[in-house]
Amino acid sequence: MEKMVIKDSGYKLEKAKILRTKQLTDKEKFFEIALGNGQPLDHEPGQFIMISLLGIGEVPISVASSPSGRDSFDVCVRAVGKVTNALHKLKAGDEIGIRGPYGKGFPTRELQGNDLLIIAGGLGLAPLRSLIHYVLDNRRDFGKVHILLGCKQPKELLFGDELEEWNQRADLYYACTVDRADPDWAGNVGLITTLIPGVDIEPARTFAAVVGPPVMYNFVIKELLSKGIPERQILLSFERNMKCGNGKCGRCQIQNLYCCQDGPVFHYEKIKNLSEAM
Ligand SMILES: Cc1cc2nc3c(=O)[nH]c(=O)nc-3n(C[C@H](O)[C@H](O)[C@H](O)COP(=O)(O)OP(=O)(O)OC[C@H]3O[C@@H](n4cnc5c(N)ncnc54)[C@H](O)[C@@H]3O)c2cc1C
Ligand code: FES
Repeated sequence: MEKMVIKDSGYKLEKAKILRTKQLTDKEKFFEIALGNGQPLDHEPGQFIMISLLGIGEVPISVASSPSGRDSFDVCVRAVGKVTNALHKLKAGDEIGIRGPYGKGFPTRELQGNDLLIIAGGLGLAPLRSLIHYVLDNRRDFGKVHILLGCKQPKELLFGDELEEWNQRADLYYACTVDRADPDWAGNVGLITTLIPGVDIEPARTFAAVVGPPVMYNFVIKELLSKGIPERQILLSFERNMKCGNGKCGRCQIQNLYCCQDGPVFHYEKIKNLSEAM
């Protein structure tokens, strides 16, 4: 079993500055952020941070960039409520508060030397983008890499330029589907599960990393198991409502697990019997 270093800065709030923003879709906005102390965030792909807006509140948000070689980091935020809407109004130069990184991310050392099947539904691409960039930064450490993406409509696709780059790369397999096409869409139409049977994998050496809306998990897991991928090689990320983000308040608890600390990334074999999780 690999050892993973998880940086836990408790409740310490760091000042941070927004360096750049980009509206990705109607609802999702990209932010490049740097800590005020000039240090890198020092996160693992799949970990999250708490973003704090003074007088408004705090929200858990996944880090969407690779930890390799940068002092700044990225997040992608969907405007759904009080804090995320306020965040969307901020621009380059504005200050925010950051706690973390928190939680267990993807076990990158366990993944090394193996093939990867990365499956992102909708906003699930945000934490998986961190893993994908990390894998591409360290491409020789991994075997075959397959990326499957799905979202409801073409206009909801995140990071369109990058998707095109991944599509062009010879060293990875990329496929994308939408539930409902528009007149300009020439790609696949159907649920993300329809992409899985067509992927050519060696199950014994393939790890699947899956993040998406809750409704997606049961169907995707069924397909992965029917491809022969062992349960311990299926990794899932769970986004439960959170408050403290670091194992103190119990808000994210499912039976004996704290999603913020024991997750958000879990091996399927460890959580498959938790009815509230699946
Ligand atoms: C580990 C983790 C990683 C996350 N990563 C991202 C990310 O990368 N990008 C992103 O946009 N969002 C992410 N989220 C979801 C994000 O934290 C919520 O959307 C946010 O907390 C909503 O806060 P608000 O004040 O804007 O909305 P509120 O006014 O609090 O609520 C608006 C609506 O969102 C629902 N909601 C609140 N919290 C959550 C939650 N944690 N998950 C799902 N629904 C929620 C509420 O029930 C309500 O219906 C993540 C959540 C977790 C737990
Ligand atoms: S959010 Fe407080 S214990 Fe997990």
